[in-house]
Amino acid sequence: MAATRTFSIIKPDATRRNLTGAVTKMLEDAGLRVVASKRIRMTEDQAKKFYEVHAERPFYGELVDFMTSGPVVVQVLEGEDAVKRNRDVMGATNPADAEEGTIRKAFAESIEANSVHGSDSDENAATEIAFFFSDDEIVG
Ligand code: TYD
Repeated sequence: MAATRTFSIIKPDATRRNLTGAVTKMLEDAGLRVVASKRIRMTEDQAKKFYEVHAERPFYGELVDFMTSGPVVVQVLEGEDAVKRNRDVMGATNPADAEEGTIRKAFAESIEANSVHGSDSDENAATEIAFFFSDDEIVG
């Protein structure tokens, strides 16, 4: 199967604990290649827009606060079946349900501070990549 791309965020709980390298190593060990990466401080507007799909959920406000509480590392990942590969290595949203060997099992602090984001479909991956990266920032 040809390589595809997905979008990843290393969230503020992980950057705060200096886990950017450890998380990235797990992504790489899972067969994903980082083809774009930058450390940013998400603005409130960006976080609100990024998580717009959850706007009506009770956790939306706190999620926006959390995602803007510290630096994040946004990444484009490339690999065979990249969306699924990344979702598999991330583990379940709630770390209490995450399997051994997953990033969230290893590092997540809570359902909110769960260390990583990963796109859940090819369509969302394309939208999310374009939200944070221009084409010339992605070097495959
Ligand atoms: P979701 O898209 O359901 O999970 P995933 O990140 O695994 O794709 O939710 C997006 C984020 O919203 C999730 O990573 C953390 C936050 N969240 C909460 O803070 N509380 C919750 O009860 C849920 C379901 C999600």
